[in-house]
Amino acid sequence: MIDRVEKLNRARLKQQTKVEEDAAPAPGHHPVVGADGINYQQTRTVSVSKDFLRENRIVCDYDQSNHLSAYKFLRTKVLRVLNANNWNTLGITSPGPEVGKTVTAINLAINFAMEISKTALLVDADLRRPTVHKYLGLPAGGGLSAYLADGGPLCELLIHPNIGDLVVLPGGRPLLNSSEMLASPQMTQLVEELKNRYPSRLVLFDLPPVLAVDDVMAFAPSLDAILMVAEAGKTKKEELMEACAALENSTYIIGTVLNKADHNAQSYPYYY
Ligand SMILES: Nc1ncnc2c1ncn2[C@@H]1O[C@H](COP(=O)(O)OP(=O)(O)OP(=O)(O)O)[C@@H](O)[C@H]1O
Ligand SMILES: [Mg+2]
Repeated sequence: MIDRVEKLNRARLKQQTKVEEDAAPAPGHHPVVGADGINYQQTRTVSVSKDFLRENRIVCDYDQSNHLSAYKFLRTKVLRVLNANNWNTLGITSPGPEVGKTVTAINLAINFAMEISKTALLVDADLRRPTVHKYLGLPAGGGLSAYLADGGPLCELLIHPNIGDLVVLPGGRPLLNSSEMLASPQMTQLVEELKNRYPSRLVLFDLPPVLAVDDVMAFAPSLDAILMVAEAGKTKKEELMEACAALENSTYIIGTVLNKADHNAQSYPYYY
C-alpha cells in the first residue's frame, strides 16, 4: 500500500516537473479544477523558481535530502492526529519570534499538498508582519487583510504557486488592529467556510508568536488545533509552557516542533 502511494506520488511529482520543464508558465491561469473543488481557472497562478525556494529553505520535490524526510515525517504525524479527530484547520505558532514558524508552515503545507488525497490552503494570518509571500516570491498586495478590511470575493485573492495542489492566501498589507480582525465574525465565518466546504482540504494558518501579541489567543478558538514551534537553544522551557498554558482552554495543541536543531550542518525540524 505504502509502495503504491509512493509510486503515485512519484508519478505525480514527475508529471509536475515535466509541466514546468515543458512550459514554465508565466503568471496567469491554471487550467485545472482541483480535486478539492477549487476552480484553478479562477485562481491566479504564479510560478516560483526552485532556486528562489531553495534559498528560502522551502523544501520541494527537487530536494531529496534529510530536510524532505523530516517534513514528510512531520506531515505524517500531524495528519494522523488531524484525521483521527476529523480536523482540518491547523495553526502554526511559537512562544517567541523568529523561531521558524513561517518556514515550517510553508514546508508542511507543501507536504500536505503532495498527499494524493489531500490539498492544502496556506493562510498567512500573521497580519502584523505577513511574510509567507516573501518566502514564496508572491506579490504583496490583496490577501487576507484586503478580504477582512475591504471585503470582496475571496477567489480573486487566492494564489496557486504551482507547487502541487497548494493554494495560498497571502496576508496582504499589515494591519494594526490584527487581533480584532482575527476575532471578527467575518474571520470566524471565513474559517468555517474554509473548514466545511472542501473536506479533503487542509487549511494551515501561519500565526504570529503567542507571547508577543494577543492575536493567537484571540484567533485560537476558531482553529481545530495548534502546532507549537520552538527553536533549539533559544526557546526556554518556561516560555513554551507559558505559551501552551495561554492556549489550553481555546484549542488543542497537537505537538511541538523543535526547529534549527543542528546549527552546524543540516538543520531540520524534529517533532514531539
Ligand atoms: N530549520 C531552520 N534552520 C535554519 N534556519 C532556519 C530554519 N527555519 C527557519 N530558519 C530561518 O530563521 C529565520 C526566521 O524564520 P521564520 O520567518 O520562518 O520565523 P518565524 O518564527 O515565522 O518569525 P516571525 O516570528 O517573525 O514570524 C529565517 O531567516 C529563516 O530562514
Ligand atoms: Mg513568521
